[in-house]
Amino acid sequence: MASSSTTVFATVVGLALLLFVGSGSAQLNTNFYSKSCPKLFETIYPVVQAAVRREARMGASLLRLFFHDCFVNGCDGSILLDDTSSFTGEKNANPNRNSARGFDVIDSIKSAVEKACPGTVSCADVLAVTARDSTVLLGGPSWNVKLGRRDARTASQSAANNGIPPPTSNLTRLVSRFNALGLSARDLVALSGSHTVGQARCTSFRARIYNERNTLDASLARTRQSNCPSRSGSGDNNLAPLDAQSPTTFDNSYFGNLVSRRGLLHSDQQLFSGGSTDSIVRSYSGSQGAFRSDFVSGMVKMGDISPLTGSQGEIRRNCRRPN
Ligand code: HEM
Repeated sequence: MASSSTTVFATVVGLALLLFVGSGSAQLNTNFYSKSCPKLFETIYPVVQAAVRREARMGASLLRLFFHDCFVNGCDGSILLDDTSSFTGEKNANPNRNSARGFDVIDSIKSAVEKACPGTVSCADVLAVTARDSTVLLGGPSWNVKLGRRDARTASQSAANNGIPPPTSNLTRLVSRFNALGLSARDLVALSGSHTVGQARCTSFRARIYNERNTLDASLARTRQSNCPSRSGSGDNNLAPLDAQSPTTFDNSYFGNLVSRRGLLHSDQQLFSGGSTDSIVRSYSGSQGAFRSDFVSGMVKMGDISPLTGSQGEIRRNCRRPN
């Protein structure tokens, strides 16, 4: 009798442990620093706020950094690492070179956090909170950020090249990349709504504005062509807003754009091109509330991708290099 109840007890404990350890995000929680760094949020927010006041686009750039971190070996701060003699990092990978920005702002935030709570808060968590604060500062929804990630000691340029989908992707490719990371087609559409803010370079949308007449509004095509020459190598870094309506306001106008064939990137317009995600785009274009609530659940799910926890990785002191 005693031994059978011991067995039952051991099995239950074992199962609980398995559940805890088996799902990588089980150790992330919203109160992670409530004792070790109680002023974390008050420390981060004003630095993000100052940066966004200086330049509204920075809010978009900081939000994107979190996506580019999480899609490459999980949310582990690897995108922030500079190249070293032992690895070539992610900053110069195709999706990031001449494009990812905001690293100086992350440095300022991390310095402020180190001052408040030395050696306590990971760069990966700094990115997660910064992405939330950036969204809020541009008028988007807020949410409780799960924390407790630790930082990678290394980064991989090839993982960044393979992990972040290019703007030439079709819907099937986008859905399958998101699915591979535990994100649904609905998450894909909601998270792509981030393109309600920020800018893209001519090189990211040139092929679309010259070759996709059937799926692109003619007047938008003309406007974009005026600052993005057709010849590759000329004007490659000229910028255009992803959402021409309101490029510094986090709203649902991106989805209205898609419905009227005004998506700037090929990958944007793929979400509304007669396929399985059309109905989701339509619903977000008609409901700010539906978009905001699905965006929040998508961000929380994205933040759960393969974190380092417990004794894995480290708490980097300087986000640019391993300790
Ligand atoms: C679905 C697949 C996605 C593709 C193919 C994609 C592609 C791109 C491209 C090509 C740019 C312009 C980069 C440049 O020309 O320099 C861009 C900008 C941006 N992306 Fe995405 N993206 C995707 C999903 C996301 C997600 C999930 C987020 C955030 C959760 C995001 C946030 C942003 C933001 C905010 C910008 C503007 C950044 C700035 O102005 O600095 N994107 N994206």
